[in-house]
This record gives sequence, C-alpha cells and structure tokens, in this order.
Amino acid sequence: MKILVLNGPNLNMLGLREPGIYGKNSLAELEKSIKNAGGKLGMEIKCFQSNYEGALLDEIHQAGENGFQGIIINPGAFTHYSIALRDGIASIDLPVIEVHISNVHAREEFRKHSVTAPVSIGQIAGFGFYGYEMALHAMKEYVKGREV
Ligand code: DQA
Repeated sequence: MKILVLNGPNLNMLGLREPGIYGKNSLAELEKSIKNAGGKLGMEIKCFQSNYEGALLDEIHQAGENGFQGIIINPGAFTHYSIALRDGIASIDLPVIEVHISNVHAREEFRKHSVTAPVSIGQIAGFGFYGYEMALHAMKEYVKGREV
C-alpha cells in the first residue's frame, strides 16, 4: 500500500514554532516516525511538505497516477480557508484523512472550522505527532475495506 503524507504551511518550522503547542521535535523527526510506523504496517510512504498551496495541489492531483491509495494531510492554516485545497481533494477519487497536531477545537474560534474536513473521510486532531500514526492505521482499514 502506497500512502502520501502531506504537510502544509509552517510545518517545516516544527520544533522551533510554538513548541508549547506543536512540540519540540522537527519535521524531519516527524517524517522519520511516520515512515517507521508505515513500514510496520507494510506501507510505502512518501512525505512532502510545502508552504505553497499550488505545490500541495500538484501532489494531490498526481497522487492517483503516482500509485498512491490514500492521502494523509495536515493542511496547516489552509485548513481554515483554502477552497482550492478543498476542491482539489474533492476532485480526486482517493481517501483523504485530515490530521492536526494540536486540538484545533480547543483553540481560537477560527481554527474550529475546516473547509477540508467535509471532503475528507475523517479528521484526527489533538494527539500530537501520534495523530499521523493513528491516521495510517485508519487508512489501512479504510483501503482494505474498499478493496473487498
Ligand atoms: C495545525 C493547526 C492549524 O490551525 C495551524 O494553522 C497549523 C497547524 C495543527 O497541526 O495543529 O499550522 O494544522
């Protein structure tokens, strides 16, 4: 199973950025732990981070032809207002799981609304880096169920 893991704007700053909220570990450490967890689940993982909406969209559009069976995405702040990302997710026939490191529902009002969650199969928020591993497990079950 090939899974694409996308991280959006400012997530390259993990470890430095508001460590009280996002933790002390870097994006490189996050990606290593995701690949490790994916390996244990028999998955091949590609990780990609960009601060640009268009670069994330290109990855989303090409995911099917690149052989991915699902996408796990932390759209960062794009979550709350990017209709382009929302439409990009809606335009493909692959399951997408939205992940947030922090509990967006327990923070500022503007973080409670996600334009991308309604076109995703589900959202995981508030479990730190472990949320990505939870999403891998959920994706595996979902993709297996789809193949039956
Ligand atoms: C975030 C939550 C967003 O509101 C914020 O803009 C981020 C990170 C999270 O992982 O908790 O950049 O997606």
